[in-house]
Amino acid sequence: MQTVICPGSFDPVTRGHVDIIKRAAKTFEKVIVAVFINKAKVPCFTIEERIHFLEKALEGIDNIEVVSCEGLLADYARERHVTAVVKGLRAMSDFEYEFQMALTNKMLNPELETLFFSSAAENMYVSSSIVKSVASFGGDIRDFVPECIHDEIRDRLCRGGVNNEG
Ligand code: PNS
Repeated sequence: MQTVICPGSFDPVTRGHVDIIKRAAKTFEKVIVAVFINKAKVPCFTIEERIHFLEKALEGIDNIEVVSCEGLLADYARERHVTAVVKGLRAMSDFEYEFQMALTNKMLNPELETLFFSSAAENMYVSSSIVKSVASFGGDIRDFVPECIHDEIRDRLCRGGVNNEG
């Protein structure tokens, strides 16, 4: 048993993310959920909002820590003495991108392994971009985001407009 990192943009967190993080928390001693500030993407939600949604969706699970991060995942893992990253894999379309990231992280930090958890069947098509896209047309996002944060995410997307990148 060990500590793992679940990294992502979480813009916003989806049911798919929560499922993977909870399964990681059952499998490993501790899970660090690292919310990355990605300068290449303009996020829809602020880092504080993304952390708030994650903390609310994961409330009551003692072995999960939610943090914000800037810079390289490989460096952050080294800093925290963590040697494994857990990511969810949906369809084959995820594979190329995830494989590229896993290999890059391994090059930058040879101690760092990437473990893939397969997405639950019901979350195969769920992504943060789908949430933002559906919400931008006034669609129902209830099935895509955790129940406890649905109203907050919906209201915020209605109020603040939607940036569909990522
Ligand atoms: O949820 P996302 O947007 O697919 O998450 C991507 C994320 C944040 C995991 C990835 O962009 C990342 O690891 N960013 C940190 C910067 C980094 O380490 N880049 C080099 C590895 S490709």
